[in-house]
Amino acid sequence: MILNHLVLKNFRNHSETDLYFDSKLVFFVGDNGEGKTNIIEAIGMFSTLKSFRECSDNDILQWGQPYYYMKSEFSSSMGEKVMEIGYQKEEGIKKKLKLNGNQITKRTDLVGELKCVIFSPSDLKIVEGGPAERRRFLDRFLSLIDKKYFISLLEYNKVLKHRNALLKDKNCNPKEIVPWNNLLLEKGMFIKEKRELVLNQVKNIFKEYLFQLSGKKDDLDLVYKPNVVGPDDFHTKLNQKLDYDRKVGFTTVGIHRDVIYIGDKNRDITEFGSQGQKRSVAISLRTAEFKYMQSYLQDDPILLVDDVIRELDIKRRRHFIELVGDCGQAFFTTTDLDGISDYIGNLKVDKQVYLVKDGKVENG
Ligand SMILES: Nc1ncnc2c1ncn2[C@@H]1O[C@H](COP(=O)(O)OP(=O)(O)O)[C@@H](O)[C@H]1O
Ligand SMILES: [Mg+2]
Repeated sequence: MILNHLVLKNFRNHSETDLYFDSKLVFFVGDNGEGKTNIIEAIGMFSTLKSFRECSDNDILQWGQPYYYMKSEFSSSMGEKVMEIGYQKEEGIKKKLKLNGNQITKRTDLVGELKCVIFSPSDLKIVEGGPAERRRFLDRFLSLIDKKYFISLLEYNKVLKHRNALLKDKNCNPKEIVPWNNLLLEKGMFIKEKRELVLNQVKNIFKEYLFQLSGKKDDLDLVYKPNVVGPDDFHTKLNQKLDYDRKVGFTTVGIHRDVIYIGDKNRDITEFGSQGQKRSVAISLRTAEFKYMQSYLQDDPILLVDDVIRELDIKRRRHFIELVGDCGQAFFTTTDLDGISDYIGNLKVDKQVYLVKDGKVENG
């Protein structure tokens, strides 16, 4: 996939940014706090309609402005597309979404149209942040490549919310809960099968990449540990746990409790990993995501790299450079021009350099 054109209006500190891209590698160079990550964030939003920084539209909206607007034009094996996102602060007005000029009302129709993989220092959260962060990592990228997965996940969470509301209601007849069990089971089992299938493939790429990145030192496993192993198990556990769930007021079994284990034979990486090891794990997870998407889609997702290279030692940078050479189009942020060679080494490729200062972007 190639992003050809990006327009931002009142997006964080970008009042008016309008950029055409015609190179495989695009660099945003500038001091801290000038608005580089904001551009990466904006591109990523066309992929998931959400900020990778996990913040609200009001955080993104430029301070004091009534609306933000963003537009992207991109091409892939599916042809050329134009996506627009408009947000108004006024209460009751929903975010406006357009694809090729047509208004889109369902978020699910847009998510995954543009496919990006973002490398960011905050990826460390996937490693350190507990089961929810690891599930979020997996869900995000599965949702981008599989619409049915994304829809099932939204539906599962909706059912879960209803079921939890009933569990909290002390006057609720337990019989009322049964239909929700069936729905949970139906959506949940699809999600579990998909997670299992994909993680089994992703783990091989992850293991191999981490092994190389760590100078053949870290040989860690990535293991999917589903909370329920199949429909019968799920059904039985939902019934067994009903009294307990009513006592605590939420559902304690299901795919929202799945665990993704990363570690050696005995312990999870959180218990023994050094910062350097954890960083390598985070980068290997993102690389596995990228490579899996690439082979699954037979098209290159767009690579967004926010400031991660400087955290790596020289040896590890080399492996990163190989990844860059293998991608379709990549966007990078770096604080100085020297940082560019850290990313590309001796690669002979077309590149575009932009200087970012106080939300304004100029050719470098
Ligand atoms: N909603 C907003 N409105 C205006 N400016 C914002 C908003 N949110 C963040 N900023 C500004 O954006 C800048 C940070 O941009 P960022 O892209 O993270 O910087 P960096 O170049 O270091 O990556 C800060 O100066 C911050 O004040
Ligand atoms: Mg930044």
